[in-house]
Amino acid sequence: MSHAIANTDNWAEVKAACEAVLPKHILDFIEANHGQAHSESQLIAILHLVQGHFGFLGQEQMHAVAQLAQIPLAKVTGVATFYHYFRLQPRGKHIINVCLGTACYVKGADKLSQRLMDELGIQFGETTKDGLFSLESTRCLGTCGLAPVIMVDDQVYGPVSPAEASLIVDKYLKKEKGAKAEAAKA
Ligand code: FES
Repeated sequence: MSHAIANTDNWAEVKAACEAVLPKHILDFIEANHGQAHSESQLIAILHLVQGHFGFLGQEQMHAVAQLAQIPLAKVTGVATFYHYFRLQPRGKHIINVCLGTACYVKGADKLSQRLMDELGIQFGETTKDGLFSLESTRCLGTCGLAPVIMVDDQVYGPVSPAEASLIVDKYLKKEKGAKAEAAKA
């Protein structure tokens, strides 16, 4: 539960408290619809704006949306968790996307996924504690001839064995360590 959100029914007070949590364009968007019945599609549009700004839907932001749009918090969190394109955690610096499409699956995407989960200590949809990697899945990257395929940020790798997946993760880790060491020298 947020500390920033006012415990009041006064609209002006609620809005003032929420200004610390949401940017102006989202406040304006919600206010433009204030007093009207909020359909699920309007709520989804608001949540898209929030995710577009913050990269994910934080508890504080969802609480502010609930108060400002006068929608029960349970409905806001229900919609946020129902649709897979909403993220409830910040994304990592590097996004590892494992293709689970048919071509990749028959070539061992499940073993590849398991290796990456073991290596990173996270499941799909999660981010490592150091904030470096998020693990996500996708249905087809359009490079089925390279199956099984993973994509790290914008770079596609394939075909990738479980052992090679570990090496790819190591490569990014080394790059990050190198960048950190350079920053420390400067
Ligand atoms: S199924 Fe994986 S790239 Fe098409």
